[in-house]
Amino acid sequence: MTFLKDGWYCAGWKKDVTEKPRAITICGEEIVLFRDADGRAVVLENRCPHRFAPLSQGRVMGNVIQCPYHGLEFDRSGMCVLNPHGQKVIPPRAAIKSYRAEEKYGAVWVWMGDPAAADPEAIISLPFIEDERYAVVTGYFHVKANYQLLNDNLLDLTHSAYIHTTTVGLPPDIAATVKYTVRSEGNVIRSERFLSNVPPTPQFLNLFKEPLGDIYSYLSWFPPSSMLLDLSVVPHGSPKRPIEEPTDDAVLIPGAHLVVPETQDTAHYFYAVARSAAIDDASKTEAMGKLSYQTFVQEDAPMIEECYRLMGGKEFYSLQPAILESDRGGILARRILAKLTS
Ligand code: FES
Ligand SMILES: [Fe+2]
Repeated sequence: MTFLKDGWYCAGWKKDVTEKPRAITICGEEIVLFRDADGRAVVLENRCPHRFAPLSQGRVMGNVIQCPYHGLEFDRSGMCVLNPHGQKVIPPRAAIKSYRAEEKYGAVWVWMGDPAAADPEAIISLPFIEDERYAVVTGYFHVKANYQLLNDNLLDLTHSAYIHTTTVGLPPDIAATVKYTVRSEGNVIRSERFLSNVPPTPQFLNLFKEPLGDIYSYLSWFPPSSMLLDLSVVPHGSPKRPIEEPTDDAVLIPGAHLVVPETQDTAHYFYAVARSAAIDDASKTEAMGKLSYQTFVQEDAPMIEECYRLMGGKEFYSLQPAILESDRGGILARRILAKLTS
C-alpha cells in the first residue's frame, strides 16, 4: 500500500513547535520540525547527508540547524550553508529535502509530496480551534495500527454504543434510533447522524439545560485522513446550529481528528475538542480534556490496536471482512484513497 503524499498532514500543534527540533515520521519519511529565529515553522529531512546523523538532535541557531555529529549547518531550504572544517568547501551533495509547511488553525501542516502542488487552501477548515467563542483542548497519541483503521473508526460511530458507554455513547437501544446518511461530495465524505429527543451524552458535561434534546453528529472526512466531527445538542425540534453561529440554547462540541500515517503499521492521532458553553469554566475544560483522553486514548486506541494485531499483517480485503450498512463511510474512504494513490 502506498501513501498519499500529495496532501496536508498535521505534524504538530503550533504551541509544541519551538526552536527545539523534533523528529516525526510521516508516510514513512522521517522529518525534523522546528521554529527558526524568524518564527517560521521549518520542516526538513531528518537525516544529515554526511554520515546520516539525526538533525533532530542538533541545535537551531538563528535560521539554521546544526548537525549534532560534525556541525554542518542547513538553512530552511535544506541547503548546507556552512562546513566548519578544512577549507570549508560545501560539496554539492550536502543538501537535504525540505517540505512545505503551513501554520493554520493552531497546527503546523506539512505537505509530503511535490511542493509545487501544495495549496494551503486545501487544508481542512477548522476555524473553531482559534475561535474565542470556544474553549478548546488539544491532544496527541500514537496508535499501533494502520491509519485506515482510524478512518473506519470515525466514519462508523455505531461503535460508540459499545465501547464508549460512559463517555460519548448512548445505550444501544437509544443509539439504534439514529437516522444515518452517508454521501460523498467529490473526494469528501459526509457521514451524518441524527438522534431525536435523547438524553445528552456525558461529553456534553451537563451543560445542556434540558433533560432531552436532539443530537446532531456530522462527520466530514477529507483525504488523506483529516476529519471534522461537528457534534451538537439542540432543543428538541429546533435546527442544527452551524459551528460559526453558536447559540446559548444549544451546546456545540466541534472536534478535529487528524490521523497521520507514520508507517504502514502505525499512526499519529492529533485531536482538538472545543465547546461553545461555559467556556471560562476551567473545571469543565479539565473534564473535557479527561473525557477526550479516556474516549480516544483509553477506549478507541486499544480496540483498534487489537483489531490490527489480529489482522496479522494481512491486507484488509484479503480477510474478506463482513460489510455492514454502517461501513459505507469507511468503504468510501478506502475507495477514494485507492483512487488517489493509484
Ligand atoms: S553527520 Fe552531519 S555533519 Fe557529519
Ligand atoms: Fe470512538
